[in-house]
Amino acid sequence: MRPKRLDDISWDAFKNLPLEEKSPYFKQKNGMPYHVLLAQQFDRETLDHVCRMATRIRRIAKSKDGMAFLMGQLPHKRAMLDFSQPSSRTFLSFYAACQILGLKVGEVRDPTTSSEMKGESREDSVRTFSSYFDLIIMRTPTQGFAEKMAWILSNAGRPVPIINAGSGKDQHPTQALLDIYTLERSFERSGGIEGKNVVFVGDLLRGRTVRSLASLLTLYPGVKQFFVAPDELQIGQDVLDQLSAAGVDYEVTNDFESVIPEADAIYMTRIQDEWDKEGESHQVDISDFYFTADHLKLLKYSAILMHPLPRRKEIDPAVDSDPRAMYWRQVRNGMWIRVALISAIFGRDDEILDYYTRNLR
Ligand code: NCD
Repeated sequence: MRPKRLDDISWDAFKNLPLEEKSPYFKQKNGMPYHVLLAQQFDRETLDHVCRMATRIRRIAKSKDGMAFLMGQLPHKRAMLDFSQPSSRTFLSFYAACQILGLKVGEVRDPTTSSEMKGESREDSVRTFSSYFDLIIMRTPTQGFAEKMAWILSNAGRPVPIINAGSGKDQHPTQALLDIYTLERSFERSGGIEGKNVVFVGDLLRGRTVRSLASLLTLYPGVKQFFVAPDELQIGQDVLDQLSAAGVDYEVTNDFESVIPEADAIYMTRIQDEWDKEGESHQVDISDFYFTADHLKLLKYSAILMHPLPRRKEIDPAVDSDPRAMYWRQVRNGMWIRVALISAIFGRDDEILDYYTRNLR
């Protein structure tokens, strides 16, 4: 689809578009992402490209010359990390990814140190940042805010690319990318992600990583998705509707142990109690939704165990040394997929692939 322009559409009209109709507004002419705002904006071709880039970039980065080449890609650009929700791994992962490409990084992590304390709107603050930076990476508690900023900046004549690093309970598209990359690497020798059973466990109602990954997995034929949670924290109907529309097979259950032997990947999540009004999720018994060392016996030899982290008690630390525990590798994969994504946004992919072909093939 031909890229569309955010300055050709009113905010109200844009806001009310179905997710798949928003995607063309976030793309460049070559089909690569310009803004990264929703998981639904990705097609299979882009996912495959970004994963392939990440694998080549990490090979290039192994040598001093290769790292110097990567750091020479974007030294003329500056990125702003605007994180108004707690974060350490996603923040540092983006920070390191920018450093690898030579991007200079600025940050605001605590809104109490910004002029928002003087009554400035979030919109005005971010518009100010956009004057100093060439990329904005943003984590916000407000669903849709990153999209709103992309629209505002385009209409203000300064269409700086925006990456959504987690918005509200709704979206975490770059976590979903790193999860796809992890699944792809793990199943490289067993036929890829296609046809696998992926089991989501925990707070599926408010876990944005699950919502974004469930959406990306619809691009892999034959994947069956299982949603395992207590009734109070079960996955939203909007996600299930999306899966049905895509013809995806799924199962909703609260019987974790019966599903473990069927799983090719289990994706554990913590209770997102920061969204509780009065601690209500602490009234829910979640102990049946923990992965224990005993569960390893039920898990296929070829299966993997994932977690976006931070972890609480969902996975017994005794499981960490099992080769099927993939969560620490997910963290590392996250940095490389973000390097690949940022280089695609700034159109450095051809040069990077060319370097790889000339030096490492
Ligand atoms: C997740 C998030 O922020 O949604 N963390 C992350 O970015 N890896 C998951 C969580 O906080 O539970």
